Amino acid sequence: MSGYALTVNGRRRTVESPDPDLPLLWVLRDLLGLTGTKYGCGVGICGACTVHVDGKAMRSCQVPVSSLAGHAVTTIEGLSKDGAHPCQRAWLEEDVAQCGYCQPGMIMTCAAFFGGAGAPGSRPTQEGIEAALSEHVCRCGTYGRMRKAVARLVGAPGIVR
Ligand code: FES
Repeated sequence: MSGYALTVNGRRRTVESPDPDLPLLWVLRDLLGLTGTKYGCGVGICGACTVHVDGKAMRSCQVPVSSLAGHAVTTIEGLSKDGAHPCQRAWLEEDVAQCGYCQPGMIMTCAAFFGGAGAPGSRPTQEGIEAALSEHVCRCGTYGRMRKAVARLVGAPGIVR
């Protein structure tokens, strides 16, 4: 059993795992109790497990725990204290979620464009964010409402860019 130190939502944590390849997804859900990050496919396709690593959207099912020393992980629980991140607000204002399962991953991908490393050096655009979100699977088909939320974000004053 080895201990792995990582920073999650601003807190330094140490987790024990016998497997250096244990995916971050399971570290978050099973070892740290952060169940906002969802398991969908486990092979990097669906996007349900998306979190930020150093501000960049990453599929946590594809990130081994042993690769995270010195890196900062942010989950949907750490995106804001009270759901006030602009992406979360836009999602609520457009009533995007249906079953909701895929939405944390979608929001984390979108949020990486604002103040994160999702689009370094560039201003987030509707097309850029939509292209990233199109790599996520939503079985309820909320894409139309997501598109409206993104439009609200890229047009909204006061958004950090
Ligand atoms: Fe990670 Fe589907 S669970 S991409």
